[in-house]
Amino acid sequence: LNYTEPYRPQYHFSPAENWMNDPAGLVYYNETYHLFFQYNPAGIEWGNMSWGHATSKDLTHWEERPVALLARGYPENVTEMYFTGSAVADVNNTSGFGVDGKIPLVAMYTSMYPVAQELPSGKNVLAEQQSQSIAYSLDDGETWTTYDAENPVIHNPPSPYGAEFENFRDPFVFWHEDTQKWVAVTVLASLYKVVIWSSDNLKEWSLASEFGPYNAVGGVWECPNLFQMPIKGHPSIKKWVLVLGLNPGGPPGTVGSGTQYFIGDFDGTAFKADPDNIHADNKSANWMDWGPDFYAAASYNGLPAGDDVVQIAWMNNWQYGATIPTSPWRSAMSVPRQLSLKKVNGKVTLLQQPQHSWRSVANHQTLKHSWKSVSKGSTSLDSPGKAFKIDLSFADHDSDKSLASTFAIAVRASSDFKQETLIGYNFTSKEVFVDRRNSGDGSFDKTFASLYHAPLSANADKRINLQVFVDWSSVEVLGGQGEVSLTAQIFPEGNSTEARLVSTDGVTQDVRLRISGMDSAWH
Ligand code: FRU
Repeated sequence: LNYTEPYRPQYHFSPAENWMNDPAGLVYYNETYHLFFQYNPAGIEWGNMSWGHATSKDLTHWEERPVALLARGYPENVTEMYFTGSAVADVNNTSGFGVDGKIPLVAMYTSMYPVAQELPSGKNVLAEQQSQSIAYSLDDGETWTTYDAENPVIHNPPSPYGAEFENFRDPFVFWHEDTQKWVAVTVLASLYKVVIWSSDNLKEWSLASEFGPYNAVGGVWECPNLFQMPIKGHPSIKKWVLVLGLNPGGPPGTVGSGTQYFIGDFDGTAFKADPDNIHADNKSANWMDWGPDFYAAASYNGLPAGDDVVQIAWMNNWQYGATIPTSPWRSAMSVPRQLSLKKVNGKVTLLQQPQHSWRSVANHQTLKHSWKSVSKGSTSLDSPGKAFKIDLSFADHDSDKSLASTFAIAVRASSDFKQETLIGYNFTSKEVFVDRRNSGDGSFDKTFASLYHAPLSANADKRINLQVFVDWSSVEVLGGQGEVSLTAQIFPEGNSTEARLVSTDGVTQDVRLRISGMDSAWH
């Protein structure tokens, strides 16, 4: 495999072959970034859920490793699947899994039991039950041993929610410095509840608290993620951020999966969202991404102290994930996002930027140009190819007959521009948009060809700044300082490599554009 098949992401992680969904177990240990992920070793649709594994030194160049946790009984008779979870380096050997001074990596995951059974631990589970289990590795994540003597370590949902045993999953575990305890956050997916647990040794867990439902509810809540960050410019103030997936139930204009977050406080027991983060209507939310293809976002454990939080998300959507036209793999991960908190327009806001070492793949500047005014209609640009990064900045304005109503850059366009993906700004609604209605193949799902939008106000200089990351089958847009993000897959023809600027109804002022080619991370 040379990673040059049609639509193959050049600088996003995708497995060489087969189905992938959520990142599950992001841990930095021994100067290596580990990426474990939901994986079907047998095909390009969901099934036989196992943990795939890849490693990287820079979050950019990945090496795929052997499957880390292979569904029990695979392939003939799967009796346990390994659903989404997380991983930590147990540096103090609290679990006792370490031998001869070797630090164990410990994974915590959801055991999904397709059939009722008595387990090696003597515990009984029902058909379709989901429970939380652990496994450990003493060789830096290459091979894993499930803790069969006691698994599952969280057997049943807490009372009074026992009936929810089919919808209890996705443990995200981390070390809570202040209380010197392990904390795991799980969901009762259909009740829109996050359930928080704590432990001294990763083996025995006690119930700490529950959170929710709040803000957007949708179909189910999945994949909770909890972490702490200082507020930029106020380093003594640290806040906690709870991120979780909704499926279906993403932001306005999307169909299928979405991701929301809450900013608040966490004392090792209970998470309390800030009052201004709770919306009364149970519909609106703080959206982590306003596009259709950003789900199950998870943060790294084990990053050096003082480092920012880094998250990776599944760049796909349950609405059409299993039918996207890629082969012999399905799904890619987002660009690793470095998160921070900052006051923007008086409100503490989550900002996203590409993680710093990731930037090394942006190699050569191919285009740099400024215009006092871009005229109404389209302005041609040299072809930037199929994988590149755009920095686009322009003056905001209020409505005026001579000025544009929208301004956009078209990418991955055919030479007649019948095929193109537009990324731009609507000066009237004050929204960034991604328009993939004519982006290429959308035949596999009737909701795919859509327009997505996110609110963004101009910065203090009255300018709109957009960063766009274009790959062979995706665009990721960060607006402003990263306070809005829009992620969308696209499936254009291989020879759709043109670009142009489009200023609708009038001119756009003081435009600055820079395009850099992106290297392939696979060669
Ligand atoms: C989210 C999810 C998780 C589950 C996993 C199974 O995408 O549904 O809740 O653990 O996928 O693959």
